[in-house]
Amino acid sequence: MQPGNRTAARETRIVLENCGRIDPESLSEAVKAGAYQAITRVVREKRLAADVTAEVKRSGLRGRGGAGFPTGVKWSFTAPGETKFVVCNADEGEPGTFKDRLILEGDPHKLLEGMMLAGYAVGASKGYVYIRGEYATSIRRVQKAIDDARAAGYLGAAVLGSTFTFDVEVKKGAGAYVCGEETSLIESMEGKRGYPRLKPPYPGSVGLWGKPTVVNNVETLANVPGIMARGADWFRGFGTASSPGTKVFQILGDVQTPCAVEVEMGTPLRSLIEGFGGGVRAGKRFKAALLGGAAGAIVGPGLLEMAMDFDEAKERGAVLGSGAVVVLDEDASIAELLHGILEFFRHESCGQCVPCRVGTAALVAMSDSIRAGRAGAGDVDRLVDIARTMQATSLCPLGQSPILPVKSAVEGFRTEFEVAAA
Ligand SMILES: Cc1cc2nc3c(=O)[nH]c(=O)nc-3n(C[C@H](O)[C@H](O)[C@H](O)COP(=O)(O)O)c2cc1C
Ligand code: SF4
Repeated sequence: MQPGNRTAARETRIVLENCGRIDPESLSEAVKAGAYQAITRVVREKRLAADVTAEVKRSGLRGRGGAGFPTGVKWSFTAPGETKFVVCNADEGEPGTFKDRLILEGDPHKLLEGMMLAGYAVGASKGYVYIRGEYATSIRRVQKAIDDARAAGYLGAAVLGSTFTFDVEVKKGAGAYVCGEETSLIESMEGKRGYPRLKPPYPGSVGLWGKPTVVNNVETLANVPGIMARGADWFRGFGTASSPGTKVFQILGDVQTPCAVEVEMGTPLRSLIEGFGGGVRAGKRFKAALLGGAAGAIVGPGLLEMAMDFDEAKERGAVLGSGAVVVLDEDASIAELLHGILEFFRHESCGQCVPCRVGTAALVAMSDSIRAGRAGAGDVDRLVDIARTMQATSLCPLGQSPILPVKSAVEGFRTEFEVAAA
């Protein structure tokens, strides 16, 4: 792969449109750039809550936290109740991922407005931003944005003189990967150990303190003000039919120019790596890319033309996940990469259920034998069998996740594993 022409690659910015352009600590600059226009119109025109949900549904916005679940549909599933909550998931624990931080630090008012619109749509008057504790600047800037928005009448009782009440509080996470999973995040917010809950019931029915709760990712919520200000059709003008809008990707590893970019959904993987990342470093050839973080897939050169949207990725056995694209050059060892991923899962397994607690340790031991040349015939297939058993029997998606990196590594780079295991 030749180094690409960086100037030829163009970003399309929706969630990052103001990042780097406005002072993120200035409410007046944010307002000048359009902040709170959508919520102001919604409350002044006394729009029906169902209309807001319908517009977001029509936009086709899908969750940017990894799974791509349709946001408007999730909101419409929120159970009735006097007390409901909106929780913004800013735990951002996926390796190679820092896209939410760009929004939290670069345009916190956009996120707050997205939460307000979500609250208006589902009938919640309280929102929480659960931010990982290591993100000190994010915490400080979001808190300042909340204080400024409240002082200006955008947040609090009777928002902008209307009957809508909405306030936001920051909760700090303690840095466990599993606490990014929505039910363990809720447990952690309730002051308990971050053990995932069995689903169903889903948070939309039984969430924070037993109340209906909408949990959305930072990037998801940051798309909502644009949709409500400019309309669902405008949003559908970007991206692909089944994955409208944009996605923030982080292009890392063995590339000339590591970067984070916001591009239309459906942008080819090659364009991310060559156009924005500048191609593989030091004249080396492309070997593979880990897409979507530790819970993602390892893809080879055969998938470089893949359009990066939820459905095309799924069809090709990959995922968008968090939007991390970690590039490996020809000298990299896939067995070493996989071992690192499996070590991560073992470390982050909460230990609540046996298949994941025992399975992650078994995967690490076996991949260690393979990379050290101590494995026997059949051990490569046993690696896949263990991950498959974990997928079928683990209590939460963390234990169900190793199958994707394991299967994609073994299927795509089998000879490398067999040589190591021989
Ligand atoms: C182990 C694990 C970690 C996760 N970490 C995050 C995270 O850091 N941020 C996030 O938004 N979603 C994370 N998720 C997904 C959440 O459970 C949830 O689906 C998401 O916050 C929903 O938001 P969305 O619909 O806007 O995508 C994680 C899931 C699992 C299983
Ligand atoms: S699958 Fe793993 S992380 Fe999830 S509950 Fe079981 S032990 Fe905990």
